Amino acid sequence: MSSAVARIGIVTVSDRASRGDYEDLGGPAIRAWLSHALTSPWEAVARLIPDERAQVEATLKALCDDEACCLVVTTGGTGPAPRDVTPEATEAVIEKLMPGFGEQMRAVSLKHVPTAILSRQLAGIRGGSLIINLPGKPTAIAECLEAVFPAVPYCVDLIGGPFLVTDEAFVKAFRPKQK
Ligand code: MTE
Repeated sequence: MSSAVARIGIVTVSDRASRGDYEDLGGPAIRAWLSHALTSPWEAVARLIPDERAQVEATLKALCDDEACCLVVTTGGTGPAPRDVTPEATEAVIEKLMPGFGEQMRAVSLKHVPTAILSRQLAGIRGGSLIINLPGKPTAIAECLEAVFPAVPYCVDLIGGPFLVTDEAFVKAFRPKQK
């Protein structure tokens, strides 16, 4: 465990936002949510890329291996459309799948919208990084992060990352008591 400044990757995967057809709302929504959630020092490493599997894979690898992000959160490209490839790209670069994250995000999201079942979002571990996929909609971002973030700091502990502290009034991190 280290007390270093946590580096957190924020990846918007969107053909249209990366072309400039519309503003990227997803990346800033993740950054804003994390700013409320975390009281320990952190910095964002943001990327905006099209729905190209090779580019998503390369970006995830760079954020984990070169930028040393302990957490990488993606938004977009998790649905069933032909260009939606974020889960495939994520699965290709992780060493361990963490199925509970996708299960929990869909379970909570289904209470908000029936179409939550259309998201194939997943999470996994690459080296010292936890990668979590979120859908593209800013409302989905908050709903999904609320659903899983209580377990994120302890997961980051377990993979050797910095000690993440949350504002308990916003989201309460759970760490099992040490034996
Ligand atoms: N999850 C939540 N919490 N809220 C939502 O509005 N939208 C769904 C789903 N998950 C949604 C959600 C819809 S309509 C789709 S198509 C899928 O996420 C995939 O979205 P993406 O392709 O932008 O990743």
